[in-house]
Amino acid sequence: MEKTLFGTLKDGREVYKYSMTNKNGMVLEVLTYGATIQAIKVPSKNGELLDVAVGFDTLDGHENYSDYQGVTVGRYANRIHNAQFTINGQKYSVTANEKGKTCLHGGGEFSKAIWEATADTDNSIVMSYTSPNGSCGFPGAMKTKVRFTLTDSNEVAINYTAICSADTPVNLTNHTYFNLKGKAGTDVLSHELRIDADSFTPTDEDSIPTGEIRPVKGTAFDFSESKPIGKDIGESDPQLVMCKGYDHNFCLNETAGAVITAYEKETGITMNVYTDMPGVQLYTGNFLDGSVIGKGGVPLNKHAGFCLETQFYPDTPNQPTFPQCNFRAGEIFRSMTRYEFKC
Ligand code: GLA
Repeated sequence: MEKTLFGTLKDGREVYKYSMTNKNGMVLEVLTYGATIQAIKVPSKNGELLDVAVGFDTLDGHENYSDYQGVTVGRYANRIHNAQFTINGQKYSVTANEKGKTCLHGGGEFSKAIWEATADTDNSIVMSYTSPNGSCGFPGAMKTKVRFTLTDSNEVAINYTAICSADTPVNLTNHTYFNLKGKAGTDVLSHELRIDADSFTPTDEDSIPTGEIRPVKGTAFDFSESKPIGKDIGESDPQLVMCKGYDHNFCLNETAGAVITAYEKETGITMNVYTDMPGVQLYTGNFLDGSVIGKGGVPLNKHAGFCLETQFYPDTPNQPTFPQCNFRAGEIFRSMTRYEFKC
């Protein structure tokens, strides 16, 4: 484990980068700012070490231009309708940081926090953060730990635990944008993607689920058999038109194996995703528009990366028919997502 100073925030606080290397030469880098995955360097079939995490070279990018690249999001990943929910008969108003209307990623608190790092083995680091009582309007104080592990079988494993002093919804995820070409300036449309999901949650124009669980069969949302991300992305399905591509939660089937597989033929890199969460937000970088400069000084263009945000479904606190996300005071929330790379 190597610790280096990554940069200094505008307010003077220092941000550190922790780098792990496994026996195959694969590298995982994690920042204390936002408990952010800074880089995932994976061997390709051509013998190169390629960074498959799209983002920024410097802290300035993360601090000032981020669309959540690589960050840990919470307390409630994804969106909450009208930035309100009720628990035990009490109404909570949380930060409406999107269009002054919805709460996105818990108001952005976790992704902008400095996390405390504890390296307990050479290839595993725990990032801890305590969200103060009532922060961003959420109930109680919530203590969160996120463990990032790089295994010798080329996996990045993320284990989340959280405990809150009050009954609360919890939804934690990682927002890495993947690009298995590992090259700045490329897009992900030719990546083959399989998602083991029979249905997805259509949304309204604010990206809030309508409550419908819609079968994917016969639609552009059917990834049950592997297909290029770009194959149906331009279809006239109003859900795709509204979001300029995929930005939707898929209802994952239960499986012991990988629930998602992505593959890129130029590099031969396959990424298998395992999770115990019921949903995943597939976001294909639709709103990246080249106005922000990413790694290597190259603009982050539309579809420069794709996110697989494993999660409870969006807006679950207001959706009684979705798998529920409320945890009692003192109850421990645990979840795991693992990304396995092969070539
Ligand atoms: C956030 C969400 C994504 C997507 C973008 C849109 O990053 O996590 O799913 O909705 O906003 O900009």
